[in-house]
Amino acid sequence: MESVKSSKNKIVIANWKMKLSLKESIDLANDLKNYCKVFKKGSVVVCPNFMSIIEVKKILKDTPIVIGSQDVFWEQQGAYTGEVSPSMVLEAGCEYAIIGHSERRKYMLENYEMIHQKLKAVLNTDGITPIVCIGENEDERKTDRRDFVLVHQLQQSLGGISLLENQQVIIAYEPIWAIGSGIAIEPEEAVYAHKIIKLTLNDMFGPQVSSNNFKIIYGGSISSKIVKDFVDLENIDGLLVGGASLNAEEFCKVAKAMLASSKK
Ligand code: 13P
Repeated sequence: MESVKSSKNKIVIANWKMKLSLKESIDLANDLKNYCKVFKKGSVVVCPNFMSIIEVKKILKDTPIVIGSQDVFWEQQGAYTGEVSPSMVLEAGCEYAIIGHSERRKYMLENYEMIHQKLKAVLNTDGITPIVCIGENEDERKTDRRDFVLVHQLQQSLGGISLLENQQVIIAYEPIWAIGSGIAIEPEEAVYAHKIIKLTLNDMFGPQVSSNNFKIIYGGSISSKIVKDFVDLENIDGLLVGGASLNAEEFCKVAKAMLASSKK
């Protein structure tokens, strides 16, 4: 199978989840400012909570780091109490939006019909790249249903979508059992899962769109200790980092290791 490891610019995305206050987010952004000068513009993304996006953006605006939101709603405006639209996160300075994170699927009961609506709304908002999360839970893995689950999640979220030539979609493969557990997937298993995702995208969009318009990244207990095992693997175009992104030095170690292998 075709390898993308030498032909794509990799991306490393920090998901700060609901772990930092506004003050802590500002402090971390200031720390990152000092560590991140080496990165190429747009190769590192941080996703603060909604309340912190504007302040973090102000701090990082002249750095290579860009901002993403951790979620987004599927309508642009209206009576949707508590929701934030794609055009609103764009206005706040976001260039990426995470959609369908497993924690939202678990606690907010988001399903792939909702994720599909969110994806469509983001693709209709010029300037934001969607990061669509997929991944099996422990039971699905143990009972050998992972491949089916991944294909199904891709079909449900991306079915019927057509992309313009310049539109990018990032698929984040985050096995639920690996998130926050301190136990990352074995690299060979990640390569296998990413191959399933790649083949499904080939099937749904054709190999050219699959190669040009999609990145497939891994998330789940990545740290500076193990990141070297995930560098230069087939079809792994980057990382989505949770816990290890909450410390600037640790996160930059992860990003540097991953991005060192990117096409210059
Ligand atoms: P951890 O890196 O803390 O396992 O979190 C991964 C994640 O959920 C990123 O979205």
